[in-house]
Amino acid sequence: MITFETISSPEKAEELRVLRNECSEWMTKDTSKISKRRQRKFFKQKILTGKIEGFLLYDNGKPAAYGLVVWDDEGRAWSSTGVKTSSRGRGHGRNVTIEVVNRARAYGVPTWAEVRCDNAGQQRICRSVGYVVVDTFERDGLTIDLMRCDKLDPGYL
Ligand SMILES: CC(C)(COP(=O)(O)OP(=O)(O)OC[C@H]1O[C@@H](n2cnc3c(N)ncnc32)[C@H](O)[C@@H]1OP(=O)(O)O)[C@@H](O)C(=O)NCCC(=O)NCCS
Repeated sequence: MITFETISSPEKAEELRVLRNECSEWMTKDTSKISKRRQRKFFKQKILTGKIEGFLLYDNGKPAAYGLVVWDDEGRAWSSTGVKTSSRGRGHGRNVTIEVVNRARAYGVPTWAEVRCDNAGQQRICRSVGYVVVDTFERDGLTIDLMRCDKLDPGYL
């Protein structure tokens, strides 16, 4: 059974940390590994303040994937997602990507994402659910698509 739970406790933030560290190499900004101490600070400064809204996807009670809605100073909602290595290829990546879009849409705003051009899985997911590329740029030797999702593809509503 698949369930989604909002990250609302230090314990869930720790589960997020473990998942996120498995995915770090594919992040477009911070690819470092996050320590337990840094995650406790993240929980207080970002989650409790509402600057970042996060959730975990559980597959039969076990954390398998995560999604974050990251609010910037201009009020834009940015998506960050990842799937546990051993849980990939089961649709969780698409599920959490859709959940982030739905959570941003609940505030009436589109979702923004940066996706490495060589990230074949996330490229496929984003284009299929309704993201469009609005810019392509280079950062630290990587080519990155800036994408925006105004509304989900009707197949995923
Ligand atoms: C990218 C990632 C989220 C995909 O997660 P996943 O759970 O394996 O993806 P899904 O099972 O939902 O697959 C969705 C589609 O993408 C395709 N796909 C997934 N990984 C792929 C890959 N490495 N290469 C090509 N296609 C891939 C699947 O075949 C599937 O295709 P479909 O349209 O025919 O259904 C996962 O590999 C991951 O967490 N990577 C590291 C973190 C990351 O890249 N996060 C996004 C940062 S922008």
